[in-house]
Amino acid sequence: MKTLVTYFSKTGNTEEIARAIQDALPVDKKIVPIHDLEGAEGYDIIFCGFPVHAHSVPEKAQSFIKALGEGQQVAFFSTHGSLRGGQLPKQAFENAIGLAAKARILGHFGCRGKVDPKVIEMLMNQQENRAWAQEAQSASGHPDQADIEDAKAWALSIIAKV
Ligand SMILES: Cc1cc2nc3c(=O)[nH]c(=O)nc-3n(C[C@H](O)[C@H](O)[C@H](O)COP(=O)(O)O)c2cc1C
Repeated sequence: MKTLVTYFSKTGNTEEIARAIQDALPVDKKIVPIHDLEGAEGYDIIFCGFPVHAHSVPEKAQSFIKALGEGQQVAFFSTHGSLRGGQLPKQAFENAIGLAAKARILGHFGCRGKVDPKVIEMLMNQQENRAWAQEAQSASGHPDQADIEDAKAWALSIIAKV
């Protein structure tokens, strides 16, 4: 089985999760930042990661997701400042799944990722960002060891599915 782990990461949190997933995979595997990818054909599973930006998928990951081909099997992972399991990060996954119209979605995994306190302070003053920015104050220290272990276990569960 051939897998590709690809990700966009602005401040390193999603990259940390991508590397953990890559470490955990007991199969033929490759890890490539999304902007360095030259093609995604020939992989049995693609793990595609991004940080949640404005409740959605950052532009830098959107074009890759839109181009996923017919029947391509993909599993999404993300990091976000807001609380795990909440409605806000869920919306980003729903958007990613909507963009990957032709692909077969194998699952998704999300965990928290720290946000610079100065950025949070600024965003708290913007109505559209206040809700997640408020939650993100307690994301410092994430992704932590438990997040890393969860991501690894999730990646293995995806492999076991296929
Ligand atoms: C421009 C911007 C927008 C963001 N929007 C959200 C958001 O809507 N919801 C959220 O939970 N976190 C949001 N975050 C926080 C990031 O998702 C979080 O810090 C993530 O772990 C960053 O991942 P990275 O280090 O891989 O870039 C935002 C961060 C930035 C810089």
